[in-house]
Amino acid sequence: MTDDSLIKIKKEPVRVWDLPTRVFHWTLAVLVVFALITSEAEGGLFWTHLAAGYGVMGLVVFRLVWGVIGTRHARFTDFVRPWAVVRDHIKAMLRSSLSRSMAGSVGHTPAGGWMIIALLAALALLIATGFFAGDEGDKGPLAHYIGAWLADAMSEAHESLNGLLWTLVGVHVGGVLFVSYTTKDNLIRAMWTGRKEQIAGEDIPAAGIPRVALSVTVGVVAVVAIVAAAW
Ligand code: HEM
Ligand code: HEM
Repeated sequence: MTDDSLIKIKKEPVRVWDLPTRVFHWTLAVLVVFALITSEAEGGLFWTHLAAGYGVMGLVVFRLVWGVIGTRHARFTDFVRPWAVVRDHIKAMLRSSLSRSMAGSVGHTPAGGWMIIALLAALALLIATGFFAGDEGDKGPLAHYIGAWLADAMSEAHESLNGLLWTLVGVHVGGVLFVSYTTKDNLIRAMWTGRKEQIAGEDIPAAGIPRVALSVTVGVVAVVAIVAAAW
């Protein structure tokens, strides 16, 4: 083995997920579980469900902004790929012949990228219907602006979207475990530490966070929080 080939197989950890993306992910996972548990609370304790819901809303707003101005692999343009790429990726996954280079991504895989869009869309709809939901019992903060029939329909939609969310989460976690196993890339550890092993020849610049991007994001989330609180 020459010195050259030794260098080629050498792997070293590189930063892929920035801190805000990781904090976003694990806080979101905890808060949606909390929102599910507190949805059982009634009357005097129902505010806990609304508080969890507002927390999730803040996180989703954060992620939408960060997806535009965040670091390289957090951006939507980095992981939202055309259908042809997603199809080839899924075929490779089913043949169990997926490697990270075949997936064509150091960040989210092509299929994983669309799963993230689906999760964010389901959460956005869940939040929107929650604001107007209200059957005989607890009501969302805007439910009294619409008729009882519509509020009831919003409740039904809220409940169905809750079912959709947990189905997507199941597929998401299954997909993460499957890809981690087939590519030998521990995605869960990477989402915790932010680092993946660099493969020779891959171009992965460290994910430095531009201060202006962080300031704009914090600003937008703060404005949304203040408007929501004032309401
Ligand atoms: C991740 C976020 C959320 C999850 C997982 C979630 C889940 C649920 C579930 C499972 C129920 C019980 C449905 C039923 O048995 O009828 C419920 C009820 C409710 N949720 Fe949420 N929710 C979320 C966010 C929100 C938000 C943001 C709001 C309002 C701002 C909200 C307002 C309500 C209201 C008013 C009810 C009671 C009315 C009803 O029964 O539909 N939820 N939620
Ligand atoms: C419980 C509800 C969960 C929700 C709503 C959720 C949602 C998400 C979202 C939105 C992302 C995109 C991250 C970003 O770029 O901002 C993501 C990525 C990820 N999630 Fe989750 N997640 C959940 C639970 C979990 C759990 C339990 C695990 C671990 C088993 C997990 C492992 C991961 C990993 C490894 C990634 C990165 C995938 C990749 O490398 O492309 N998630 N998740």
